[in-house]
Amino acid sequence: MTFESKKDVLDWYEAQPSSVTPEFLSSINWHEVRQYPFDARLVPVLFYMRDVESLTDMYYRELRRTPTGRDPHISKFMARWGEEELVHGQLLDRFLNELGYETDERWYEGVRSSVGRFYKAHTYAITTLTNLVGRRFTGTHMIFGAINEMTTGQAYRRLMEKANHPVLTQILRAILREESLHTNFYSRVARLELERQPISQKLARFVIDHFWEPVGGSALGYVRSNYTIAQLFGDDEGRRVIDSAVSKRLNSFPGFSGVAAINRAAEKSIQAGKIIHQMEALSAVL
Ligand SMILES: [Fe+2]
Ligand SMILES: [Fe+2]
Repeated sequence: MTFESKKDVLDWYEAQPSSVTPEFLSSINWHEVRQYPFDARLVPVLFYMRDVESLTDMYYRELRRTPTGRDPHISKFMARWGEEELVHGQLLDRFLNELGYETDERWYEGVRSSVGRFYKAHTYAITTLTNLVGRRFTGTHMIFGAINEMTTGQAYRRLMEKANHPVLTQILRAILREESLHTNFYSRVARLELERQPISQKLARFVIDHFWEPVGGSALGYVRSNYTIAQLFGDDEGRRVIDSAVSKRLNSFPGFSGVAAINRAAEKSIQAGKIIHQMEALSAVL
């Protein structure tokens, strides 16, 4: 199938079935969660992923104030995307509860209100600036979305392997199918937008080179994002995954050859996350 317009991409997306369906939800063996061991070091990772998923809504609301969010095809995608991400967050929260980590019923409001005023004001300012650039910024939004979906997908894959927990694997497989559709939507629209005008390529490349960082850090705190990146990607295999499944893919986008920003930002997080881990270990023996 060739994609010549955003409508083609949306038609393709809308023809794809959801994976986290009511049937799927009723098939999860929640009562088995505690029958398997779970590495406690991955618990903060689960909380982080849950919170990143649930903040999608905030991001979506901001984006609707921009020409990208007002695009009829993109906004239609985003309505379904936003709902799916929220359900991913709810599933991870339920898993944590079943594992024995009780969460408040109002955890969702708690996450939203914990996001700092600085972050909100900063995001508001960026959105306002984006409006000045107009539609030429859509390629940047889309490539940003594509990278965030790719890295999130790889994070879930690594989490699945490291946790090796049958119930979590069942949940993450379904989530991953949806993340993969999100990646494809963003990537295809990004490609169309970047091909359309060289100025979009320049803008997108500049923004990724200078501002990309692992999703969620600026809203939820860098201590949490660095810890998560170090846990999931802080070994040779993790670095290889970032390079092959994210950076190499990104290289093929118009204007993105030789891009090193993702590997660089991931490495920075890994190093910072390892220091957190070492400090925790040190404080335990002091
Ligand atoms: Fe998600
Ligand atoms: Fe996603």
